[in-house]
Amino acid sequence: MKKIINEDVRFAFGRNWSAYLKNNLISEAIEISKGGLEEFLGKNPLQNKTFLDFGCGSGIHSLAALQLGAKKVVSIDFDGDSVKCCKKIKEERGDGYDWDILQGSLIDDNFVKSLGHFDVVYCWGVAHHTGDMNKALYNLKELTSENGELFVAIYNKVEGMRGSKYWWNIKRFYNKSSFFIKKIMELFYIFINFLKLVLRFKNPFRVMNEYKKKRGMNWRTDLIDWLGGFPYEYASPQEIFKIYHDKYGMELKNIKTTNYIGCNQFLFVKK
Ligand SMILES: C[S@@+](CC[C@H](N)C(=O)[O-])C[C@H]1O[C@@H](n2cnc3c(N)ncnc32)[C@H](O)[C@@H]1O
Repeated sequence: MKKIINEDVRFAFGRNWSAYLKNNLISEAIEISKGGLEEFLGKNPLQNKTFLDFGCGSGIHSLAALQLGAKKVVSIDFDGDSVKCCKKIKEERGDGYDWDILQGSLIDDNFVKSLGHFDVVYCWGVAHHTGDMNKALYNLKELTSENGELFVAIYNKVEGMRGSKYWWNIKRFYNKSSFFIKKIMELFYIFINFLKLVLRFKNPFRVMNEYKKKRGMNWRTDLIDWLGGFPYEYASPQEIFKIYHDKYGMELKNIKTTNYIGCNQFLFVKK
């Protein structure tokens, strides 16, 4: 696992979420998120349960959890713009739900201790962006109730030329660059990905449309999130298993892995 503490550069995820909310069909994204939660957690997974969404981003997964029957949801993000996005969704669609939205960090021990415990802790694509993944993984375990479930997604470790280390360097360079260079890198990266699809005889517009079916995300927003997402750490499925199973005694209930640089997903039960 690559450890980055005291990093001086950080990607502003929240600004990207604001742009995403302006451009998207939120209802469709929420339905897709509900499908994703049910697929990984099982049928009726949240009925009458408390749900913590740490690193909530846009807030669509929190609303999906409420619509799936969670009795209380707490959504937290470090980034003020993400918190604003989440509050906007709550204002527009969260009437009548028990839903708290807070700003705070997963690696702030005092803040984490003040939150209590939750039946389901959901932390998708966050711990590896905190700057201290080991502490984040520990705090997630602490937040999970006895017999509660932890659904966590962490970037996979990929060796080789275009692997995780290569991307660590690109992301760091992007985040240290001026606004102008960032825009050029974004356009270039989007163009390259568009071209790759064309060269594989795939219709890019169809792929973009299909992409929404993956957790309700937007192709372009996700590309920029990937390019900019920093601090950035990564771990193999075995490394995550070692931490949660061998070190913290949690039971693995579900797993979905990738061979690529995307996220491995895990569902652990706290015993
Ligand atoms: C890739 S996004 C994932 C958002 C959301 N979980 C999802 O699945 O769509 C990562 C999120 O983690 C948040 N984040 C990064 N560091 C954090 C920290 N230390 N504490 C809480 N949230 C953090 C970012 O602001 C961002 O909204």
